[in-house]
Amino acid sequence: MTEDLITFIGRFHPVWVHLPIGFLMIGVLLKSYVVLLKKQNLQEAVNFTLFLGAVSALIAALLGFLLSQNGGYEGNLLDIHLAAGWLTVALSGIAWWVNKNEEKYSKKLNYSLLGLLMITLTVTGHFGGSLTHGEDYLTAYAPFGEKQEESKGRILASVEEAEVFTDVIQPVLKSKCQSCHRSGKSKGELDMSSYESLLKGGENGPVILAANAEKSELIRRVTLPSDHEDFMPAEGKKPLTEEEIQLITWWIEKGNADPKVLLTESDAEFIEWAKPKLTIQGAENMVAIQIDTAQIQGLEKMGFRVRVLSHETGALDVVLPEEAANGNASELLKALLQIKDQIFWLTLAGTGIQDSDLSLVSQFSNLQRLRIENNPITDDGIAGLKGLSKLEILNLNGTKISSAALGSLGEIKSLKSLYLWNTAVKPEDKGVEDMALTEVKVVFGG
Ligand code: HEC
Repeated sequence: MTEDLITFIGRFHPVWVHLPIGFLMIGVLLKSYVVLLKKQNLQEAVNFTLFLGAVSALIAALLGFLLSQNGGYEGNLLDIHLAAGWLTVALSGIAWWVNKNEEKYSKKLNYSLLGLLMITLTVTGHFGGSLTHGEDYLTAYAPFGEKQEESKGRILASVEEAEVFTDVIQPVLKSKCQSCHRSGKSKGELDMSSYESLLKGGENGPVILAANAEKSELIRRVTLPSDHEDFMPAEGKKPLTEEEIQLITWWIEKGNADPKVLLTESDAEFIEWAKPKLTIQGAENMVAIQIDTAQIQGLEKMGFRVRVLSHETGALDVVLPEEAANGNASELLKALLQIKDQIFWLTLAGTGIQDSDLSLVSQFSNLQRLRIENNPITDDGIAGLKGLSKLEILNLNGTKISSAALGSLGEIKSLKSLYLWNTAVKPEDKGVEDMALTEVKVVFGG
């Protein structure tokens, strides 16, 4: 038989196993009925069900054996499951024989056999389930005992504590690779459930070579074209994202595949990307901000346009259209204070806002994009924006600012793009050059 055929047939095991479980349980229940209510005329039915149970158990065991040859299962769980399975087959055969010839055997033997059969059946089923669903499948949601942290990872006091491997990479591997690569079910003999087992590698040796991402089998596998037969994750499972691949590559290459490398030692873009995924205790943790639909509807009634950027972080894109502002922008803006931490993008173009309104805007500390073009804003107002430490894009086209504002803007380290068309700032101004040196893209075009 070819390997594929073995696997094909073996995969009927998980479906087929329900048959012997059903037959054997009905057999034992019927037997209790016969004994307790003295319905001896049903003994024939007990014999027949136990017979079906024994035969279907044998078939299930054979299918299971084929699956174990090739299914990527191994380890203790599998050994126990196999042993218990064969024991169930043997016991069900003996129980059938003893029942069929019950006048020749003691009742005690008969009943103990059936009791034992129920026990092995349960044990077999439980270990089988653990093999396919993971060891904690049964108890993961139990009201007792310690809950496994879902792939979220551990709770940190601050971003500074986060380790690239433990807090970012491992949760990714857990959700996208460990269904096939963990202890008890390690396809290609690769077990990713711990750093040590991951570094040990698979059937073809190490899959991670410190400081050599290019030669690392793991990187090769996840960067192949997705229709390549070596591509991972296999079987069309959800692939790694570009960011995930880049961070793992960085960790192997620059972080030397060291489990203790901190996230803050990596590049700014990785930190930005990974931060919302961390579970950080305390005020800075924005992961849990809930989107309040009623609140948003209220803002929309006032004329704001509100769009959800991320349901995970509660991030919002808020626009006040020119016609909705209608000379009343200062008043309307105050309503935004109730969602100030959720405003990531804000557009107030042409609404007539003034310097005094920017002190309110400066309280939106998560702001990443701010468009306040075509407003009578001056250098004084801009100085108030210095504290926006996450601001990346700022549009000041058509405002009254001069090159004197560039000093305060230079203090916003996160800034990436600055739009200055139709202002008193000229491309040749000294400040502009400084900005460009700090890698801010300054745009003068219309
Ligand atoms: C649906 C099951 C499945 C998933 C999910 C899966 N793999 Fe695999 N993986 C396999 C199988 C089967 C093999 C062995 C056959 C082969 O080498 O292609 C394997 C082998 C590998 C190997 C080679 C091990 C060696 O030494 O030969 C690497 C590396 C690997 N996987 C990485 C990953 C990574 C990284 C992920 C998550 C992004 C992943 N796998 C997810 C099924 C899976």
